[in-house]
Amino acid sequence: MKKRIAVVPGDGIGPEVIKQAIKVLDAVSNRYNHEFILDYALMGAIAIDETGDPLPQETIDICKMSDGVLFGAIGDPKYDNDPTATVRPEQGLLRLRKELGLYANIRPVRLFASLMDRSPLKEERILGTDLVVYRELTSGIYFGDKGRVEGGNAAFDTCYYTVEEITRIAKMAFEAASRRRGVLTLVDKANVLESSRLWREVVQKMALEYPDVSVDYLFVDNAAMQVVQNPARFDVILTENMFGDIISDETSVITGSIGLLPSASLGLSSSLFEPIHGSYPEAAGKDIANPLATILSLAMLLEHVGLIEEARRVEAAVELVIDKGLVTPDLNDEHFISCSKVGDVVAMMVESDLDEDTSFDNIFEGNLPLI
Ligand code: IPM
Ligand code: MG
Repeated sequence: MKKRIAVVPGDGIGPEVIKQAIKVLDAVSNRYNHEFILDYALMGAIAIDETGDPLPQETIDICKMSDGVLFGAIGDPKYDNDPTATVRPEQGLLRLRKELGLYANIRPVRLFASLMDRSPLKEERILGTDLVVYRELTSGIYFGDKGRVEGGNAAFDTCYYTVEEITRIAKMAFEAASRRRGVLTLVDKANVLESSRLWREVVQKMALEYPDVSVDYLFVDNAAMQVVQNPARFDVILTENMFGDIISDETSVITGSIGLLPSASLGLSSSLFEPIHGSYPEAAGKDIANPLATILSLAMLLEHVGLIEEARRVEAAVELVIDKGLVTPDLNDEHFISCSKVGDVVAMMVESDLDEDTSFDNIFEGNLPLI
């Protein structure tokens, strides 16, 4: 199979973790005889430095031409504490989401049995957690009218949703719930916000078309409590853009490392896959970042383009490296390997037939395991 993939490494640790995912992609192409054509493109602070624009037109064109975009991370501290900066790296990502029509951001949260003790939550609370957040991504308060008034002394952002915008992501979430455990939770603030009342109205009507899905409704403040009190009660969480931004960061801590969580952004015709962590500038260039979230995002990309077996193989390899303790310092600060070694090992596991008994002890001394 031949597929065209746009690769956007971005800022901070983005380029390092993307490099590992590309090793894994090469391994997939060797094992299964696929041809992946990679087109690299700039976005974020690096694009501002090189072109003055966080999202050059060329990047948009490359992404639109692709079967899927693999993206690293965005953001640079030099912009974070300067509210007057008019050009910011994040604008690149927001514009790209809009340009590509990526209205659904999907963030699965799965536990890895061998990492249970990494979670800040007690094991008995998190056991059985397997949820996915469907966050609306191209509308709401992020994209509504905003501005300064009163000579700059007052500011506003508008949360605006149409029935169509709500319906299309709700449809995806209902379908996911029917494939999964059949529970959909709409998270909103319908006791206060008119836009949330519209979400409820639309979702209540749609629920009639999905008799196999049971729908419940939670106000976002209550949901924020419940995701840490009883995460296992959730199956599919559906929510608007900003609540989804916040709730999905919260759900990401359940598993114990934000470095493990992938995401997919799907939409009208394009799709983009990225780790949910940020650019982690303090670690950039040190070869210590965890590449697994990016590698798992690659697995989501493979699945999206129809390479299901390949996706499962990548996921199984990730699970195996975690089980074998071949992880970066965020997962084990006493016994760890580098970001690039994690990439090497996952790629090797994808390409070759290893079994449970293969020894990995020598990898800590700087060698790849003998097979
Ligand atoms: C995310 C990020 C982005 C968002 C930022 C970088 C603009 O936090 O993908 O969750 O707020 O959507
Ligand atoms: Mg966020």
